[in-house]
Amino acid sequence: MRGQAAILREMGYTLWQLRQNTAERGEHPEPEPPVLAEKSPLPTAVAPKTSVPVSAPRPVVFVAANEERAATIADLDWEALTQAIKECRACGLCARRRQVVPGIGDRTADWLFVGEGPGAEEDARGEPFVGQAGKLLDNMLAAIDLQRERNVYIANAVKCRPEGNRTPTNEEMAACRPFLLRQIALIAPKLIVLLGKSAVHSVLGDDRSLSALRQKPQSFGATPVVVTYHPAYLLRSLPEKAKAWEDLCSARRIIDDRVM
Ligand code: URA
Repeated sequence: MRGQAAILREMGYTLWQLRQNTAERGEHPEPEPPVLAEKSPLPTAVAPKTSVPVSAPRPVVFVAANEERAATIADLDWEALTQAIKECRACGLCARRRQVVPGIGDRTADWLFVGEGPGAEEDARGEPFVGQAGKLLDNMLAAIDLQRERNVYIANAVKCRPEGNRTPTNEEMAACRPFLLRQIALIAPKLIVLLGKSAVHSVLGDDRSLSALRQKPQSFGATPVVVTYHPAYLLRSLPEKAKAWEDLCSARRIIDDRVM
């Protein structure tokens, strides 16, 4: 895979090149694929079966849900949806935002990645995952042969920045959830990758820990879901990077099985 070396380095693996014995023969050596050293081999993830969840989800209560508003949003086309997101004042996050961050990418993508909410840089640029965590996300995408905006859509559980990059409240996620649900319906992805707990809360309505949910079959309706760690968390926690890699391998297998 194209970006594999990059993500292996991100994960703390040391890459060694096999030395070529061609100099004496005056040949130009072909580059060898990277060889892993110092750590045990990458986990070989088993693609989860995508149907029945292993344990019953504990539902999150969305207190701010408003059925009428949700039904209106559920009928919007892309243009009207984007406009509604930009004009939204359904929760307190609108008061401090510089820009709304609706999402970005291919609207017919097979892959949908869902994060938590915009940080300072995303709020300034109006685009999700453009800061440090975004750089790691781009490397994660590259590791499974993906590129932002090419067969990939990236959205967040909330579209406005929670001040100080705090976790959005249940009420804020509930207010934004109809937008995310409409994005999912319009994109109709083949796979949803949930990055971190807020994304899991919002899409699956489940408040169990990520370790309880990842590497287990999850779905949103008929769409398979892969649960993994948020890139910002991975930047702080080296051991979890190997697990995220395992999750990405599972995601890639699920898509390959569905597309073939
Ligand atoms: N973290 C997120 O969850 N989303 C972003 O867009 C940026 C950082």
